[in-house]
Amino acid sequence: MKMKALQLTDHPEQRIQLLDVAKPEPANGQVLVRLQAAALNHRDQWIREGKYPNIRAFCTLGSDGCGIVETVGSQSDAHWISKTVIINPNQNWGDNPAVQGKDYRILGNPVDGTFAEYIVVPTDRLHEKPAYLTTEQAAALPLGGLTAYRATCKHGAVKKGDNVLVTGIGGGVAQLAMQFALAAGANVWVSSSDEEKLHKAIALGAKGGINYRSDDWDKQLMAQTSGLNLVIDSGGGTGFSRFVRLMQPAGKIVFYGATAGLPTTLDLHRIFFYQLTLQGSTMGNDAEFTEMLQFCEQHRISPIIDSVRPLDAIISAFDEIKVGKQFGKLVISMV
Ligand SMILES: NC(=O)c1ccc[n+]([C@@H]2O[C@H](COP(=O)([O-])OP(=O)(O)OC[C@H]3O[C@@H](n4cnc5c(N)ncnc54)[C@H](OP(=O)(O)O)[C@@H]3O)[C@@H](O)[C@H]2O)c1
Repeated sequence: MKMKALQLTDHPEQRIQLLDVAKPEPANGQVLVRLQAAALNHRDQWIREGKYPNIRAFCTLGSDGCGIVETVGSQSDAHWISKTVIINPNQNWGDNPAVQGKDYRILGNPVDGTFAEYIVVPTDRLHEKPAYLTTEQAAALPLGGLTAYRATCKHGAVKKGDNVLVTGIGGGVAQLAMQFALAAGANVWVSSSDEEKLHKAIALGAKGGINYRSDDWDKQLMAQTSGLNLVIDSGGGTGFSRFVRLMQPAGKIVFYGATAGLPTTLDLHRIFFYQLTLQGSTMGNDAEFTEMLQFCEQHRISPIIDSVRPLDAIISAFDEIKVGKQFGKLVISMV
């Protein structure tokens, strides 16, 4: 039996192609999920551009998905059949909750991912779809939700009354980080390259926003906030150095990406004197995935969806995430 899957190829120009590939079969401890929806992350486009370590050609891309369990490899897992599930994209986080181990992998390269009609995953990666989410919203939650949860709620320990900056609010992770910080009762400011995105974030509850392309965005932000307790960033680049001056004593800068590259300077004197923390963050462990789902359910948080398109049109979604005009997740529907 064949199925459609979006795979990374070895073609020099058409790096991603929708191909007919063998439909996978579940082994013991695995299930076959008929996908109903999947969603893009910037990771998928980085992989298309070859800007990711250990990528494998002829691997199905996609880390996020929601679907219905169709068959199981072991009869002991039969209770999963016909359940609508979301998939934890982590594999082999390892024994240390603080950091992933050397065998850690993420669904969607090097492990076959969710941009397909079917996927086989280990049973312990399954969570029942929260009833308050549509399949499209549920599909858009896993990778971004996990990354935002660890960065904002665990490392960032966000709490009521904190002044928080979430950068690049057009981003899928950033939008969930904003929603998590708002749910915790924080005062949230956002940054963007796009004025309309700032307005949309303010309509969703942010106190204000600044354009990170303006020369004096840091001064504008200081005037609005009188200092930050927490920054959640994935931009990096030269703007990163300016966060240091915006922090209140004992503030934290948590970063999970470096889209704009590396900072050229860092005021180490200020960092140690004001007891600031610079904290890197990647994805999250399996317990945090469960906690993230509970936190979202408790606060009725759902990912913002920009658009939904069929699997046949998936390459256009990659082209869009590269340009970054969207506000919300780009979702693929398989039904
Ligand atoms: N470490 C991890 O586990 C992990 C997990 C997920 C993502 N990431 C990384 O985090 C980044 C965002 O991922 P995503 O999937 O959320 O991407 P996305 O949905 O494609 O969003 C990207 C957003 O980044 C913002 N951006 C671009 N340049 C920026 C800059 N110089 N300063 C601040 N923001 C900037 C833009 O926001 P505006 O449109 O508002 O300007 C853009 O919309 C990527 O680099 C990704 O690889 C890391």
